Amino acid sequence: MTLNGKKVVLAYSGGLDTSVCVKWLEQQGAEPYALYLDLGQGEPADDVRAKALKIGAADAFVRDARAEFVEEYVAPAIKANALYGGKYPLFTALGRPLIAKKLVEVAREVGASHIAHGSTGKGNDQVRFDVTTASIAPDLTVVAPVRDWNMSRPEEMAYAEEHGIPVPVSKKSPYSVDENLFGRSIEAGPLEDPDHEPTEDVFALTVAPEEAPNEAEYVEIGFSEGLPVSLNDVGLPLVELITELNRIAGTHGVGRIDMIEDRLVGIKSREIYECPAALTIIQAHKELETMTLTKDILRFKATVEQRYAELTYDGLWFTPLKSALDAFVSETQKAVTGSVRLKLYKGSSTVVGRTAPKGLYSKELATYDPNSTFDEAAAAGFIALWGLPARQWAGVHGGIEQESSAAK
Ligand code: ARG
Repeated sequence: MTLNGKKVVLAYSGGLDTSVCVKWLEQQGAEPYALYLDLGQGEPADDVRAKALKIGAADAFVRDARAEFVEEYVAPAIKANALYGGKYPLFTALGRPLIAKKLVEVAREVGASHIAHGSTGKGNDQVRFDVTTASIAPDLTVVAPVRDWNMSRPEEMAYAEEHGIPVPVSKKSPYSVDENLFGRSIEAGPLEDPDHEPTEDVFALTVAPEEAPNEAEYVEIGFSEGLPVSLNDVGLPLVELITELNRIAGTHGVGRIDMIEDRLVGIKSREIYECPAALTIIQAHKELETMTLTKDILRFKATVEQRYAELTYDGLWFTPLKSALDAFVSETQKAVTGSVRLKLYKGSSTVVGRTAPKGLYSKELATYDPNSTFDEAAAAGFIALWGLPARQWAGVHGGIEQESSAAK
């Protein structure tokens, strides 16, 4: 593919990989445009623009996409309780389609024919960028310099030095980190041994449970139609609520995840995550759903949730199935209003209370008091019919064999 004379919009992070990409694109005769998006990763945006321009970008854009990220990507994932492998709240996977969408936007603004990202050939992110672009802008071509050039890290460093690209000396950390408002991932280095316990230098958002306060802290999350809207009775926009909850839960050592994950490209990888807000929000949200949704919806939604997480993980955010599942999930969320109280203590988060104005829990029905409104007399007839098929089978076959097959 010749890039000579082509305008290319690159997803720029300010780090070594994407800085080298800017230079490399320029050397191919392309006109590189850098786009830095703030998704809450907490890096200084200002020098990023200057750095891209200094390296050779034709222009550099810095945009705050936190509100859009939270409203259009994180919010539907919360409603869907989306956890990949039952554990990972998907913050990276949710960010990539938005970054791709913004690259496309800038490509339209500057009249570019190509977009570029700094993903390697071993991960999920390349799939998410490429498939999203194919879904929303099939006329654009995606370039992935890091995947294609096969440079090792030392080679990249040498290349950077040779071309006057500033390499931060603090880059000594052996870890590869990705972060946004909804979480932080830490990979590589000693963590590649799945039996190696992560040392404390891995973590930035959570304290060690042993170092957490000796006093438990309660936090109450208020929800309206499936989305968190208040913290301890104070109404907050979702961006601020997540920021604040990251801080509170992180202080108590809540939000660490250590897992073996199945990447889309077939590799099993060892992942460490810190997601204090994401995990507590999803925990509270699931709890509120048990109060407000019917048994049938809860059972059916659980299977939808798993599929939803897989689609998100696998880069299929902008696809018809994902849109259809969103419609189902949104419909269920109309009833999910109320609040959940959690107790945070030394690495654990425990639900200790829940209230919902339209909760389906009825104390009058459930109570063991004699004045319960539940009609116990109706139970016997119900059970007779409920158990009819079992009784029928037993009559014909003489019952189910008692010796367990496992014992054989
Ligand atoms: N394993 C996670 C995922 O695939 C996190 C990946 C982090 N990305 C990165 N380039 N370090 O969603």
